[in-house]
Amino acid sequence: MSGGTKAAPRLDTDRLLDDQRTRIIVCCGSGGVGKTTTAAALGLRAAERGRHVVVLTVDPARRLAQSMGLSSLDNTPRPVPVPDAAEGGTLHAMMLDMKRTFDEIVEGHADPDRAGQILANPFYQSLSSSFAGTQEYMAMEKLGQLRRTEQWDLIVVDTPPSRSALDFLDAPQRLSRFLDGRLIKLLTAPTRAGGRAYMKVVNVSFGVFTGIVTKVLGAQVLRDVQTFVAAFDTMFGGFRERAEDTYRLLQAPGTAFLVVATPEPDALREASYFVERLSEDRMPLAGLILNRVHRSPAARLSVARSTAAAEALLPVGGPADNAHSAAVNGGAPLADVTRYPLAVAALRLHAERMQLIAKERRLSQRFTAAHPAVPVARVIAQPEDVHDLAGLRVIGESLSGN
Ligand SMILES: Nc1ncnc2c1ncn2[C@@H]1O[C@H](COP(=O)(O)OP(=O)(O)OP(=O)(O)O)[C@@H](O)[C@H]1O
Ligand SMILES: [Mg+2]
Repeated sequence: MSGGTKAAPRLDTDRLLDDQRTRIIVCCGSGGVGKTTTAAALGLRAAERGRHVVVLTVDPARRLAQSMGLSSLDNTPRPVPVPDAAEGGTLHAMMLDMKRTFDEIVEGHADPDRAGQILANPFYQSLSSSFAGTQEYMAMEKLGQLRRTEQWDLIVVDTPPSRSALDFLDAPQRLSRFLDGRLIKLLTAPTRAGGRAYMKVVNVSFGVFTGIVTKVLGAQVLRDVQTFVAAFDTMFGGFRERAEDTYRLLQAPGTAFLVVATPEPDALREASYFVERLSEDRMPLAGLILNRVHRSPAARLSVARSTAAAEALLPVGGPADNAHSAAVNGGAPLADVTRYPLAVAALRLHAERMQLIAKERRLSQRFTAAHPAVPVARVIAQPEDVHDLAGLRVIGESLSGN
């Protein structure tokens, strides 16, 4: 470290996994930073260290899902064999099925007739499979369900691939606000209010309003929304309460949030927002996971020295060099021709790598300057995508600094 920048405290992920008080780990972060990979790697490592774990993944890459025995979206945890598990250690994994989770809530809260009506309603069908925020809501819902079974000693949760990490916290409330909101109330006023006096007051403006809505949405959609909400009415309280319950669960001391980011400006900016938001909401942040960090096996060879060495291997341009260059390189530009093309290429690559490492270090120092108390763990960028248990194990080892 240079120039008075303070190093971040180290995040000890093994201690977090070994601490029996840790009951829920939530991996958050912006799109594509490695949330699913981290969640799966932590789950595997925790099982290997003797915990009874379930990992809830959202949209894992196909090959990774297959390697964990997740071939279908059936919303139930499946056992994953962990050959090196310490005593008592087991791993289960599941993929979130957003629509199935929503259907189960409906089935669990309405009598069979009503449930049937709701499930068949086209508005419900589009809401449950595509409304922005449904996936986040359902991830929280599933987490609440898994926790209530008391079957797991540790639940590791992956979060949906939203652009912004904050969506995971915001979307459930947005969804229950929407379901409980003014637009829906207005749309369904005739079926709800019933009383004539109320109808008189509302009728004129409501008539104009529904007229417009009908034009925009179409009469069928409006009817769908009305019947859906009428049938769903009894569950509204339930929805909001559940979102609030899960929110409280996330604030509980047994929960640990891990914010995942790559050492890039956008991902770290998102991580910053998220860290601030967690503290505003009094949610327990365990630390930052800086994923896909680059290293060099020859870190002592600086950019300046490797660039100079590459240049020294280039010919200065004498006649002998010229003749040689033309022979080796088929007449390529003189300045780039050398008797040691591999060495020059390697030195240049090394210089580029060292520049990248320096840039990543500056970005991570900037994050730590803004959040000096947030512990950080680093995961080395692997040469290939992570798609099997062996790959996950390497990530877990890198994460723990071993
Ligand atoms: N340390 C690493 N080294 C190499 N590849 C990695 C590393 N971490 C993640 N990857 C790869 O990066 C890709 C994205 O990772 P992952 O799916 O875990 O991200 P995500 O945050 O869950 O993405 P999304 O927001 O789309 O859900 C995957 O192909 C994964 O194998
Ligand atoms: Mg993912």
